[in-house]
Amino acid sequence: MIELKSSREIDTMREAGRMVSIVLQEIEERIAPGVTTQELNERAEKTIYALGGEPAFKGYRGYPASICASVNEEVVHGIPGRRVLEEGDIVGIDVGVRFHGYYGDSAVTFPVGQINEETGHLLEVTHQALFAGIEKAVAGNRIGDISSAVQRVAESNGYSVVRDFVGHGIGSEMHQDPQVPNFGEPRQGILLKKGMVLAIEPMVNVGTYEVEILPDGWTVITKDRKRSCHFEHTVSIDEKEPEILTAWHLKKNLLR
Ligand code: MF3
Ligand code: CO
Repeated sequence: MIELKSSREIDTMREAGRMVSIVLQEIEERIAPGVTTQELNERAEKTIYALGGEPAFKGYRGYPASICASVNEEVVHGIPGRRVLEEGDIVGIDVGVRFHGYYGDSAVTFPVGQINEETGHLLEVTHQALFAGIEKAVAGNRIGDISSAVQRVAESNGYSVVRDFVGHGIGSEMHQDPQVPNFGEPRQGILLKKGMVLAIEPMVNVGTYEVEILPDGWTVITKDRKRSCHFEHTVSIDEKEPEILTAWHLKKNLLR
């Protein structure tokens, strides 16, 4: 069943989303060579509570942290720890906040120091793929319009899209129907209606789309150990234009 949100519920989700974007902006300023992912997690958790929210990921199916931090060949769900970020790495930071019973969910892949040109291209294309998907998130379109738009941007640039993990509906739970795959056919799938809210989250790989899960039970890595990139926004569907509830304003405008 797909939950349709009232405009008051969207107001609450906008607040949750604003908290998520504040946390991501704060993390951007702290990412540098020498920083551990655990430090980023501690900071994020403090900020979420200070803003009046709760970290949505913490305790979710036993997940032990407040953010996910996925480095290089890690796709999503990396657990923050003692790993030290190094110049040239990329780190996908995923943040979820619960506020007054509603959720916001967003992710950014950040460069650590200077990254090489190929990796910069991966980040740009994945960001572009996210926005190509968001553009299709309007009433009257179908899920497949979002999915195929994301896939087209990624694959036309020579990359692959992960199959085993997908975006999702979001609202009074973090994960709701419908699923939002990053691959599919235009005009297929459920019809989008005003009041639906979707987490659109392309996971784009340099090499194969196949992934594995590390023995920690969470961290998803690419099978070929090539790099992967993840961006995510929580987006509400309206008749005319999608509204990005987690809109972040990043300092480094490497994302054209
Ligand atoms: N944004 C991720 C998702 O939609 C976050 C899940 S991490 C978890 O699946 F720990 F909470 F599972
Ligand atoms: Co999500």
